[in-house]
Amino acid sequence: MKTIVKHPGDLISQEYFDVRYEVLRKPLGAPKGSEQLAKDNDAIHVWAEIEGQIAAVGRAHLLEDDEDGSVVDVNADSACPAFPPLSDEYMEMEDDSGTIIGPNLRPAIQVRAMGTLDEYQGRGLASKVLSVLETESIQLWNANSGWLQARMEAIPFYEANGWCCFGPEYHIPNVGPHVSMWKNFETLKR
Ligand SMILES: CC(C)(COP(=O)(O)OP(=O)(O)OC[C@H]1O[C@@H](n2cnc3c(N)ncnc32)[C@H](O)[C@@H]1OP(=O)(O)O)[C@@H](O)C(=O)NCCC(=O)NCCS
Repeated sequence: MKTIVKHPGDLISQEYFDVRYEVLRKPLGAPKGSEQLAKDNDAIHVWAEIEGQIAAVGRAHLLEDDEDGSVVDVNADSACPAFPPLSDEYMEMEDDSGTIIGPNLRPAIQVRAMGTLDEYQGRGLASKVLSVLETESIQLWNANSGWLQARMEAIPFYEANGWCCFGPEYHIPNVGPHVSMWKNFETLKR
C-alpha cells in the first residue's frame, strides 16, 4: 500500500474523484459531478493506492476564522449544518464521552469525502488516509482540532480512530442521517 498526499493547489487526478463518486455519491443515485466539493482546490487530499489503483480517499480543509463548517453542496443539491462549538455564540458543551469541547479549537480543520472502494474495505486503508490527513493538517495549518459530519454507519470507523460524537442526529438532504464528530489534536502534537 502506498499513501499519496496532495497539498492545496496541487493537481488531482480524475481517478481520485472517480473513487469519491463511486463510494459516496453513486450509491445515493446522485449524478456525476456531485462528487465535486467546494474548497477542493484549497484542501489537503490523501489517497491509498494498491497496485497502482486508488482504493481509499479523503480530504481536509482549513476552517477560516469566520467559518463554522456549514456549507451548501450545490452539485449534490445538499447542505451541511454548522458545528456549534465553532460558532461565535458557543455555549460550552460536552461530547458523548463527557469531555468538554474546547477551548483553543482553532486552527480547526474539517474532514470530508472519506471513502474506500467496497473490495478494499476492512484493510485499514481509510484509517491510514485519516491519520495522514490529521498529521498533514497539523504540519501545514498547525490544526488544533478536527471536525466532520459522519454518516451513521461510519461512526464506528471514526470512533476507532479517536473521534467522538457530540450533539443530536440530523438529516443532510439527499444523503441521510448524520452525527457531528470532533477530535482534539493536542495529543498528536506532543
Ligand atoms: C467508513 C469507511 C471509509 C471505512 O473504510 P475502511 O477502509 O474499511 O476502514 P478501515 O479498514 O481503516 O477501518 C478501521 C477500523 O474502523 C472500524 N470500522 C470500519 N468500518 C466499520 C463498520 N462498518 N462497522 C464497524 N466498525 C468499522 C473497525 O474498528 C476497523 O478496525 P478493524 O478492521 O481492526 O476492526 C468505509 O466503510 C466506506 O467507504 N464506507 C462508505 C462511505 C462512507 O460512509 N464514508 C464516510 C462518510 S462520513
